[in-house]
Amino acid sequence: MKEYEYKVSAAGRINVIGEHIDYCGGKVMPAALSLKNTVYIRPNGTNKINISWTTLPDKVTLDIDKLDSYRNLKYGNYQAGAALMWQRAGHKIIGCDMLHDCTVPFGSGLSSSAAIEVSTIAALATIAGETLDKVDIALKAQQAEREYTGVNCGIMDQYASACGKKDSVMLLDCNTLECEYLPLRLGDYSLVITNCNKPHSLIESKYNERREETERALKLLQQHIDIKCLAELSNADYKKYATVLTGVLSKRIEHIVSECERVRMAMQALKAGNIEILGGLLNKSHASLRDNCEVTGREPDALVQAAQAQSCCIGSRLIGGGFGGCTISLVKTKYIDEFKEFTFNSYLKATGFKAEFYDSEISDGIVITKL
Ligand code: GLA
Repeated sequence: MKEYEYKVSAAGRINVIGEHIDYCGGKVMPAALSLKNTVYIRPNGTNKINISWTTLPDKVTLDIDKLDSYRNLKYGNYQAGAALMWQRAGHKIIGCDMLHDCTVPFGSGLSSSAAIEVSTIAALATIAGETLDKVDIALKAQQAEREYTGVNCGIMDQYASACGKKDSVMLLDCNTLECEYLPLRLGDYSLVITNCNKPHSLIESKYNERREETERALKLLQQHIDIKCLAELSNADYKKYATVLTGVLSKRIEHIVSECERVRMAMQALKAGNIEILGGLLNKSHASLRDNCEVTGREPDALVQAAQAQSCCIGSRLIGGGFGGCTISLVKTKYIDEFKEFTFNSYLKATGFKAEFYDSEISDGIVITKL
């Protein structure tokens, strides 16, 4: 890749706990992965961005003056959206050639789209000689996902993709964007990432619907109590005003209130090195995602069940937006091979799908290398 000037990467992510909480202003616990999107980039002296991929035969050219017109591209739309939001924020976009190399599996719930958006902006800013503000890049990448791609997401994925730190989980307050980094010390256990291989698309899924439901619930509750976001709702207030909400809205709030509490307990457990407690919280989180938030489905439930059935696994849950994608499981390190084999076979038997396991480390978010 000698002929390129810079190599700029941004990470995929897992989320230890705190699901469907970021857009409610709560705390979440993501970590950046060594699975990432890397952009090799060089200025080309034109007003065009030429994009190619290491893993796709496609080539796409974007006109810098028409970045708004690429929403329907099969590939290149994330890059166009990210560049457009950066441009709209007043940054100069320089014509360039980009080669994208993505090791985050698409549609896996590991935030390939955030990794593409964040690395695209970071690469464009780098060749323009700008000093990088990672949080600002994350916010513009989120804006791209919402306004260009149409997924009304929170800030968790883009923040983790940009600001993650090696071997650390992040305790991110999605209301204030304050972030505490905690070393991920799991003792005798390891986190295993497993893809149920039922592809999911947040665009087609009910992700936006979940978000609308929580907004409706917030408005109803605000007629009675002074809260700015649902994460501020205490357990006591939730009980007091439970009757204001009916049907699915009350289930959604049940998830939010209980998941926020689980994040608090998970942080304490991690700080105290009590990994068994953390495992139990992952199991409860999955149950709530299934029964209250209703974002799991046959395949993710079967995969989690196969994991939870084993004594070497102390916790397992679906991560990300839901409706497919990946689970994380806390597994005794010395039994990982047995765990994978049992999980693969039992999940195949239950669903006909082949589970896939990823070996990934917890890594830094944006990384820039001059070539
Ligand atoms: C997707 C979104 C995030 C977050 C998760 C669910 O990954 O992009 O903002 O809402 O779902 O926790």
